[in-house]
Amino acid sequence: MQVKGPDPEFIQNTFSSIASNYDQANEAITMGMVGSWRKALIESANAKPGMSVLDCATGTGDLAIEFAKVVGPNGKVIGSDFCKEMLACAPEKAKKLNLEIQFEWADATDLPYEDNTFDIVSIGYGIRNVSDPVKALSEMARALKPGGKLVVLETGDTRNPVLQPMINLYFKWIVPRIGGWIGGNRKAYEYLNQSSGKFPSRKDFLKLMEATALLEDLSYKSLMGGASFIYSAKKPLQA
Ligand SMILES: C[S@@+](CC[C@H](N)C(=O)[O-])C[C@H]1O[C@@H](n2cnc3c(N)ncnc32)[C@H](O)[C@@H]1O
Repeated sequence: MQVKGPDPEFIQNTFSSIASNYDQANEAITMGMVGSWRKALIESANAKPGMSVLDCATGTGDLAIEFAKVVGPNGKVIGSDFCKEMLACAPEKAKKLNLEIQFEWADATDLPYEDNTFDIVSIGYGIRNVSDPVKALSEMARALKPGGKLVVLETGDTRNPVLQPMINLYFKWIVPRIGGWIGGNRKAYEYLNQSSGKFPSRKDFLKLMEATALLEDLSYKSLMGGASFIYSAKKPLQA
């Protein structure tokens, strides 16, 4: 199964242009809710002290930071991304919180990690920006230990008849303006809104996970009526 995502060079340039104000714009756009959605993802991952976690497309590192708080000093967290300007914002934030996290450059479609390495592999608001989402999901599944969990946080489509028109208007008209004022690049936020509308969600996204042929127990749940989704799957104990 092939789903064609955006051109990787366009994505690197887009995120490098908004990296320095990404966190503030993200907080404003989600009205502060993004933190609780990340925590919900960590709960779905069933993260525990001592576990090893790989957070792909970690950007400025917030999801990796939340995992590091849970897995603690006996655990291990790697946050990787292919946009060095986004990644450059992350280590200082972890250091301020006294958290040991390994931040490093990696392309999610060609991960430099051994097979069967991590208890949890995650990606937050990253998969729809990847040029080949099925390849990235396959790489993430490959790096998981047997029995390990893959968790994905992504935007989606709201089907609630009351919420839908309001959310559509908000994303079409307000988000690019907030992105322009705070993020400094309105066009980048127009792209993020358009990509969100086009990307498969709900059962259609599960089909992408299924296409890896490396995962089982696929499920999803919606957050705030479909403003975001958590997808999870397990790597079978026996191949
Ligand atoms: C919307 S940001 C999400 C950042 C962070 N995970 C969060 O929750 O705020 C999307 C990130 O995906 C990264 N990305 C897109 N394609 C990638 C790829 N093939 N490999 C690694 N990172 C990628 C971008 O560089 C960017 O930092």
